Amino acid sequence: MTTVVTQDWIEEVLEEHKRLRVMCADLRQVLAGARPEAGEKGAHTWASDLSMRLVKLHDELFRHFRFEESMGLVEDVVERHPRALSRLEAVIGQHPIMLRDLRSIMTDALTYSEGELPEDPKLRQRTLSLLDTLHHHEQEETDLFQRLEYRDQGAGD
Ligand SMILES: [Fe+2]
Repeated sequence: MTTVVTQDWIEEVLEEHKRLRVMCADLRQVLAGARPEAGEKGAHTWASDLSMRLVKLHDELFRHFRFEESMGLVEDVVERHPRALSRLEAVIGQHPIMLRDLRSIMTDALTYSEGELPEDPKLRQRTLSLLDTLHHHEQEETDLFQRLEYRDQGAGD
């Protein structure tokens, strides 16, 4: 039986959450300004810039989720924190959905960058909404993992 949820493991997850928060704040800043109309001056730069950041975020998230879904995590929780299993499964279940949504936004941002019509009028809004979802997701994970660690330190389950 491998113990996955250790203090070091949780610290690494929380460090990664911090890095992701910086990337998301950066993306929000890009999205704060008005979006140029498709085909207008500045539209291509705006969309390319957005696409590059989305690709980077997708890559970081993919690696981050893979780390969180470390081999043996579920088994570890089943063994030592069975009552937390449904919460864990719920957060892990959100990972592929968020990646899929992010890829869909990336594709539309690239289409938009070529000035192709029809453009998606909700590109900004969809991205912001995904960032909100991701924010809540990471908060939920932080809370969940910290509770597991707290129990490990002898607080009882
Ligand atoms: Fe996470």
